Amino acid sequence: MSFPSNRILSGIQPTGNLHLGNYLGAMKNWVAMQNDYECLFCIVDLHAITVWPDLGEIAQSSREVAAGMIASGIDPEQSALFIQSHVPAHAQLAWVFNCVARLGWLNRMTQFKDKAGKNKEKASSGLMVYPNLMAADILVYKASHVPTGEDQKQHLELARDIAQKFNVDTGKEVFPLPNPVIQGPGTRVMSLRDGQRKMSKSDTSDMTRINLTDTADEIADKIKRAKTDPEVLPDKATGLAERPEASNLINIYAALADRSVDDVVAEFAGQGFGAFKPKLAALAVSVLTPIASRMTELLADPAELDRLLARGADKANDIANPVLAEAYEAIGFSTTGIKR
Ligand code: AMP
Ligand code: TRP
Repeated sequence: MSFPSNRILSGIQPTGNLHLGNYLGAMKNWVAMQNDYECLFCIVDLHAITVWPDLGEIAQSSREVAAGMIASGIDPEQSALFIQSHVPAHAQLAWVFNCVARLGWLNRMTQFKDKAGKNKEKASSGLMVYPNLMAADILVYKASHVPTGEDQKQHLELARDIAQKFNVDTGKEVFPLPNPVIQGPGTRVMSLRDGQRKMSKSDTSDMTRINLTDTADEIADKIKRAKTDPEVLPDKATGLAERPEASNLINIYAALADRSVDDVVAEFAGQGFGAFKPKLAALAVSVLTPIASRMTELLADPAELDRLLARGADKANDIANPVLAEAYEAIGFSTTGIKR
């Protein structure tokens, strides 16, 4: 059985603010891979409702994420950029995977534990089966590669387990085992106020993250006030080992500048944060402010964004529907009446 060898699928939630972690951990890598892979990028609104967000905002947040992706360099003509709920096969295959994945597997997912918090009984059942839907997002395209930030590693391993169990249980090689692509210094961007926590859309303090829509002054101010330590910068990357905040700022610099951490550390060795932070701020402003202004332009024409997203959904449906039919056939469902 031959599978596509260069097809990417990745996803991003349409909730709250796109931030530097999304950009460096995911979107920047997606843009870089666009010419070498057939790419599908999905705005995962079905995942967003696992925590029941402000319902009045989902459609607009989806447009904002689409605008952020295009402003960052995703070409919607070349890649399929679409909204998850516009491609019904994701939810249909997810149901099948609800019946393949074992509860024991889901019980080990750390993101569920983090998001459900202390009161697991009150979490939605959707939050529990979130990784099954994510596996469906990937496998409904038989994607070969899935580029994400480090936080998605466990979910990507689960997607491989689901693919394998489906194939074994049906005796048909329907799904490939997708390869995670988690690479570069930006795969784990941490909070500016606490080097042990990841930068996140849901953090209540806006000072913890740099949003893609922040102004130059806001970016500079957040970096100036970012938590650091009193030491000077070391001359080797290994010297950052026990210094989470210093390590985070250096990683951000390296990822923004497309340079290695070793290279950046060599340049700033012996300097304090008073010297380093203004350089980092200038670099961040130079990369991010053009993205913010392009986003504003794109958001001024929501009808055009909706048109692009509808075209993306057409491309995605064309690939996904036959794969869903193949999965149904492998299970043994009667498929004579289904649309492909
Ligand atoms: P989310 O906003 O949770 O839907 O994440 C979208 C993408 O951004 C995923 O590939 C995540 O792994 C990535 N991502 C989110 N937060 C971070 C972070 N703090 N550092 C690096 N990557 C991140
Ligand atoms: N769970 C991912 C996140 O929170 C988003 C996501 C949904 C995703 N489906 C995906 C990422 C499929 C990669 C592939 O970041």
